Amino acid sequence: MVDAEGTSLCLGHCADGTWGAIDNVCTHDGGVLGEGELDDCLVECPRHGARFDLRTGEVKALPAVFPVNAYPVRVVDGRVEVDVGVPTKELEIG
Ligand code: FES
Repeated sequence: MVDAEGTSLCLGHCADGTWGAIDNVCTHDGGVLGEGELDDCLVECPRHGARFDLRTGEVKALPAVFPVNAYPVRVVDGRVEVDVGVPTKELEIG
């Protein structure tokens, strides 16, 4: 879990070596995704178990039905950079 320019992010390292960053708030009922478990590249919400793809923000398991924003991540000279100005999706709460 990191804060970047006022945006709370769930940032993680997937099993295949890639990085991903998504909003830190679950669209189901506000669970803190950064406190959940990371399995391969899926983040499990600690509240009710919804799963989100860390690279795309897509829902992979209910009870959440709406995706979270995902942000471009790159590694430059050993530093992880997240572009919080370019979410891949607009946040929907439901
Ligand atoms: S708050 Fe995340 S699954 Fe319910």
